[in-house]
Amino acid sequence: MKRTILVLSLAFCSLAATAADTSKGAESTAPTCPVTGKAANPAITLVYEGNSYAFADETAKQKFSDDRANSLYQKLGGKTAIDAAVELFYVKVLADKRVNHFFEDINMNKQKRKQKEFLSAALGGPIPYAGKDLRSAHESLGGLNDSHFDAIAENLLATLTELKVDPQLIEQAMAIVGSTRDAVLNRPAKPATPAVP
Ligand code: HEM
Repeated sequence: MKRTILVLSLAFCSLAATAADTSKGAESTAPTCPVTGKAANPAITLVYEGNSYAFADETAKQKFSDDRANSLYQKLGGKTAIDAAVELFYVKVLADKRVNHFFEDINMNKQKRKQKEFLSAALGGPIPYAGKDLRSAHESLGGLNDSHFDAIAENLLATLTELKVDPQLIEQAMAIVGSTRDAVLNRPAKPATPAVP
């Protein structure tokens, strides 16, 4: 299980790292290939969830398709499912006295949009996350600790369970969210576990 979390964490970190490079993929007038970061060939395209993507070559297009097909994002149901989950999640969070005070002065429409973007990217969706990194997003929240993180995670688990998501997918999604704990709580990241000889 620890290994699974580590692998998922690394996948998440690499997603976050590539986010900036590919941010022009879907909409720029001179599009960049979302896979290679090179100039896209306007003749090599595909439409995913209503957005058209152009690629540097056929290999990049195939990789994009394979990555989506293998992604937790797509297995969970893509944009429609993530959007619905985030809506229900914040209904629960705002009703939860352990954590709702953190959101008193927050523009919740913006928050929901950012969370949809973040989770979509972290779960392997096609659009890179362009919001604040998790450390700066939470550093001004005084007194944030493990009990708050656990409450937020509990609300997400209850949301996915209520939406009847496959338990194995829930476990994988929770591992990805769990891997953000040190960043959200502004603690130094733990070093990776050395491989057993
Ligand atoms: C469980 C993992 C968490 C994830 C993945 C997460 C994700 C995010 C994201 C993506 C944003 C928006 C950043 C932006 O503006 O660009 C955000 C903001 C925020 N988060 Fe979290 N968060 C987590 C945990 C928590 C916890 C435990 C709390 C408090 C109980 C919390 C409270 C907030 C608040 C209040 C904001 C708005 C900050 C502001 O606009 O000044 N989050 N979070």
